[in-house]
Amino acid sequence: MYQYNDFDRNFVRARTAQFRAQVERRIDGSLTEDEFKPLRLMNGLYLQLHAYMLRVAIPYGTLNSAQMDQLAMIADRWDKGYGHFTTRQNIQYNWPALRDVPDMLDALADVGMHAIQTSGNTIRNVTADHFAGAAADEIEDPRPIAELLRQWSTDHPEFQFLPRKFKIAITGSESDRAVTRAHDIGLRMVTRDGNPGFEVIVGGGLGRTPMVGKVIRDFLPKADLLPYCEAIVSVYNRLGRRDNKYKARIKITVHENGLEKIQELVEARFAEIRPAFSGVDQEVLAGIEAQFAAPAFKSAPTDGFDAARAANPAFRSWSDTNLHAHKADGYAIVSVSIKKHGATPGDATSDQMRVLADLARRFGHDELRISHEQNVILPHVHKSDLAAVYSALRAADLATANIGLISDIIACPGMDYCALATARSIPIAQEIATRFDELKLEHEVGPLKIKISGCINACGHHHVGHIGILGLDRAGVENYQITLGGDGTEDAAIGERAGPGFSADQIIPAIERLVLGYLELRQNDDETFLQTYRRLGMAPFKAVLYREDKANAA
Ligand code: HEM
Ligand code: SF4
Repeated sequence: MYQYNDFDRNFVRARTAQFRAQVERRIDGSLTEDEFKPLRLMNGLYLQLHAYMLRVAIPYGTLNSAQMDQLAMIADRWDKGYGHFTTRQNIQYNWPALRDVPDMLDALADVGMHAIQTSGNTIRNVTADHFAGAAADEIEDPRPIAELLRQWSTDHPEFQFLPRKFKIAITGSESDRAVTRAHDIGLRMVTRDGNPGFEVIVGGGLGRTPMVGKVIRDFLPKADLLPYCEAIVSVYNRLGRRDNKYKARIKITVHENGLEKIQELVEARFAEIRPAFSGVDQEVLAGIEAQFAAPAFKSAPTDGFDAARAANPAFRSWSDTNLHAHKADGYAIVSVSIKKHGATPGDATSDQMRVLADLARRFGHDELRISHEQNVILPHVHKSDLAAVYSALRAADLATANIGLISDIIACPGMDYCALATARSIPIAQEIATRFDELKLEHEVGPLKIKISGCINACGHHHVGHIGILGLDRAGVENYQITLGGDGTEDAAIGERAGPGFSADQIIPAIERLVLGYLELRQNDDETFLQTYRRLGMAPFKAVLYREDKANAA
């Protein structure tokens, strides 16, 4: 993985020192909170409902064990012993004291991490497929490109004051595990005549006006990527609306001007700046690529794995849901669920972080990933080690066999932490997971993505949930609106609203009716919830969803 060079190290240290001085001035009163706000936001420090919140970037979701250990140490020393992994491959600390934040940033810098551009109207943390470098279906590891984009965008002098925040996601596989179509720029690797390049998508985004991105270039050679992205961001910087915060994202720029006009402007700007990229970027990329060389995979028999599967049904069930196909023979990708039934989605305790770091060190070529679905991945585990990994996970309460199932819910922090929330998200996620655990139907129901946001900003990706839940405030009472048929993959779709929302008391039974209704509607056991929805449309789902209301009204 990428190792900081002297330039990177000095840059991050200098930023921390600068911020330390600013924090001191805030504490001694020489800066007001209003004066301090833009300075803290440049360093990922928010003011939440109850406390400050520090958002730390985990670029393209990649960590090594030393970095994970450090995140655990920070959680213990300056927070309440846990951290929250988010849909943007960041970790958030919810309870730091202001005076401690510079020390936290120094501790992050010790392991090559920081919180720069995790806030503000800048290019945010570049996210990527959490199986990058490991997935069997991958064309190429997309992380070197993501790292190149990070180096280009960090402190880019023209792009510190964009009209609004700007998010880039990248996948190196045909199957999109990075939700590229819901990002300002989405990059999906494809091949043409045997050469890898990118399908470039612009103008996707969730929030108050959700939109699926549009293809602006169906094939962009790899060598053109940086100037092309620079062209897109320059056009947006010039055209994006600064008069209205709610119309400032590039999705609105594309919508209001039309894709064709944006495409023309981007191509023109690209032609103008392309010659200035004299190849230095490609030299930098080659250097980065060398650092992402695959680890030395071992060759060993996998009989132990087969024997453990045959002998232990719990291990078999876990390996059926939590493992994915690896590109190297004898290896598997392990998705560790940090969504034990009833737990807060995305929260990991410092002890759990240390267990994961230790497993990566012992069995995982020292690599970890954070997924946008708020889980942790051990990308390279040999099958002969899986039984040992499983028993260590079990001992740490991390062996829940629910990846991709109904309790593997994405939920934003909602009213438990967020100052913008209109409803709670975490308890709803907890109750759904607990209910379906009681019903013992989770595995029977199969792949089903539930995503929950506590307000229209859509941090919980509810628009692209097969079942989306949006918490709203109706005259001081929490109300939950359901959308159906959303999809965050290469077939991305925004979910459709089912009808009137449900109260906090009604929402769990409503979800239960919906899911039990699906079990009756599906053609056979293999037809997923989304496939059934796509075949039948909204009407039969709506009928089961509102059945009880009708019964009450009768
Ligand atoms: C301090 C807490 C947070 C605040 C104040 C906040 C604020 C916002 C706002 C205002 C938007 C709408 C932006 C727009 O459409 O222009 C947004 C979108 C988003 N946020 Fe958050 N958020 C917070 C926490 C989170 C967390 C915890 C996650 C992940 C679980 C997250 C991930 C996202 C994502 C994925 C979007 C999607 C919309 C998009 O960019 O298209 N945010 N957030
Ligand atoms: S969706 Fe709303 S409530 Fe949830 S984290 Fe984002 S801004 Fe806060």
